[in-house]
This record gives sequence, C-alpha cells and structure tokens, in this order.
Amino acid sequence: MRIAHLSVRNFRSYAAAEVDLGPGLTVVSGRNGAGKTNLLDALYFGCTGRSSRTTNERELVRFGEQVVRVAITAEDRDGRHELSVGFEPGQPKRMTADGVRVERMADVVERPLASVFLPDRLELVKGTPSLRRAHVDQVVAGLWPARIATRRAYAQALGQRNALLARVRAGAASVASLPAWDAELARHGIGLMADRAAAIELVAPVFAERAADLGLDGDPAVAYRPRSHAADAAELAAELAERHERDLERGFTDHGPHRDDLVFRREDRELRAYGSQGQQRLALLALLLAEREAIAATRDAIPVMLLDDVMSELDDDRRARLVELLRGAGQSVITTTDLEHVPGANDVDVTRLSVAADPAGLAPRASLVVVDVAA
Ligand SMILES: Nc1ncnc2c1ncn2[C@@H]1O[C@H](COP(=O)(O)OP(=O)(O)O)[C@@H](O)[C@H]1O
Ligand SMILES: [Mg+2]
Repeated sequence: MRIAHLSVRNFRSYAAAEVDLGPGLTVVSGRNGAGKTNLLDALYFGCTGRSSRTTNERELVRFGEQVVRVAITAEDRDGRHELSVGFEPGQPKRMTADGVRVERMADVVERPLASVFLPDRLELVKGTPSLRRAHVDQVVAGLWPARIATRRAYAQALGQRNALLARVRAGAASVASLPAWDAELARHGIGLMADRAAAIELVAPVFAERAADLGLDGDPAVAYRPRSHAADAAELAAELAERHERDLERGFTDHGPHRDDLVFRREDRELRAYGSQGQQRLALLALLLAEREAIAATRDAIPVMLLDDVMSELDDDRRARLVELLRGAGQSVITTTDLEHVPGANDVDVTRLSVAADPAGLAPRASLVVVDVAA
C-alpha cells in the first residue's frame, strides 16, 4: 500500500496543496521555513489521524482558518483507497476510509503504515520509557494488527485495578477483591510482554545490521527490557500479589509491563545516557529501517518512510547508504534544504517536489508545492 496522492486544505502553512508522490523515493526540497516538515506531517496526519509533531491539534489549523482537511489516495495491487481526516477545533475529528466513517485510523486495514523520522523524535532514544513502550506497541500493531486488542485489554485492566486500589484506600472496597484483578491484569500482561518480546526479536538483528550500514560502530544493539521476568500469568499474578501493600501505599500499580522499556546500547553502554546526538540519531534511523523491514517480511505491507531533515547530519557515505536502503524497497519521502545532499536525487526513478513560501504574496503565508520537472 503506497500513497499516490495527498490533498490538503488549511493545514499549517498550506491553504491548499495537491501532491502526487512517486512509487519509490520522493525528495521534497525547499528553504528553511518553506513548509517541508508541514508537508511530511500532513502525510502522517492523513495516514494516522494524528500529527507527528504535536498533540495540540489547534496548531495544525492554518492561521485565520477554521477547518482542516487532509485526504490521502492510497494504492495497492487491488485498487485505490481514499482516507480523509477533517477537523475543526472544538469539534470531534471526522475520519473516513473509502467514504465510511471510522473512529480510529489504526483500525483501518486498507491504509498505508507510516514511519516517521523527525529530529524531535530523538526523544525516543533519550526520553522517558513511556515513549519507547508506546513505540514498541505501535510496531506490534504494525506487525500483527489484531494484537492491538491485547494492549487495550491490558490498559483497561490496569485502569480498573488502579481504581480498585483507590477504593480500598478510601475504605470503600476490601483488599480481598484485589487478587481477581491481579489475575486479570496478569493474563493480559503476559500476552502483552510476549507480543513486545516477539516484535523486538524480529527487529533486533536487522537493527544491528542497519546501524552498522549507517556507520554506527561499537556493536550497536537494541533489546526489550521487561519489568517482570514472569514466565506465565500465574507468576505475574504472584508478583502483583507480593506488592499489594506497596501499591496500596502509593495508590497505583507499580509493577507490570506498563513499566517496560527498550534499551539501545553501544559498546555495552546505554546510548540514552552515553551516546552522542549523532549516535542517537543513527540508532533511531536504524530502528525505523529495521522495523520497516520486519513488517515487510511479516505481512504484505511496507511502511512509508517519512524522513525529515535527516541528510544534513550525515556524511557523504552515510547519505549514499541511506538512499540505497530507501530505494531498495517501498516508498519513502525525504526532506532536504539542498538536493545535493541526496545522492541520486536527479535519477529518473526519484520524484522531486519543491516547496516554496508563496513568492507573490497572493496568499499570505501559504506554501506552494511544485513538481520539479526541470531537474
Ligand atoms: N497553523 C499554521 N498556519 C500557518 N502557518 C503555519 C502554521 N504553523 C506553522 N506555520 C508556518 O510554517 C512554517 C514552517 O514550516 P516548516 O514545514 O516547519 O518549514 P521547513 O520547510 O523548514 O520544514 C513557518 O513559517 C510557520 O510560520
Ligand atoms: Mg523542517
């Protein structure tokens, strides 16, 4: 499933844009502030119903406008599919797939998966474990869409156990009611841990290869770090039972896969603490490439890679290697201030788009997208 066309109204700097993407690599070039990242985010928004940059969706509405609309035409061997996301601040978001209203894009089978690299996403390597857990769960969903249910069931059981802890503390419920929720949480928790472990098992060997390809030395590795080492639900339930007193003291469940993490290492030290920015960036890129390959190998879907401003930080060899990896399979979109930074950008199988803030000032602050036929 690839993105054939993007149609945008009032999204960030774009009053209106109609953009055709190539089947392989598309390079989006333009000066600083021209709207390259906004275009990438519009693609992500159309595929997922969420922004890759912000959780405050008000920011997405073009200054002075009210209603945003992003539509994607996706295409595979079997035909075309239309996805659309529209919203107006203060109103519920309206999403459709082939004209049918949907609650969550994640539930839509006929949609392109998107994987995005943004300079801000270094937080995934450096930031809190919760970001990495959420990411691993997205990879699980990308690999095995039906397993989203396990994570949702776990989150629900966790919420209920926490609510029960609060009631016991308030004297409104008895401690004797906890073991039933330990068992429920443990049942879904073991499933969630198994899904995460299986996903990272697929990704880890490819990560090591891609990281080496991109020139990250020192035996880079990624590993799943579960909080619990329980082998089955009974063991996890027993671990939860041992912690009743502490959980009641704190008022929340302090043990289980909602405390898991993903660790990146180089020379056996954690990149999160000891890696340079450059090393963390390469690790993130290697992770996204490895996940994409794992998903492509597991099911008939290869995520669209959206890479923002990645070239400026890489040397010539690494740029060439990355472009080679991207051109090897699937669809990708890469932004750059300088076409020269993308080796092979002028080859016939590469689509070039140039983005410019409206030079005539006819539509103030609008960005224009131009298919660069001249290059
Ligand atoms: N909601 C919005 N409405 C209009 N313009 C916006 C909005 N949000 C951001 N912008 C403008 O978008 C521009 C930045 O676009 P961006 O895609 O980040 O540029 P770049 O090409 O450097 O990646 C800035 O000029 C900013 O003012
Ligand atoms: Mg940018």
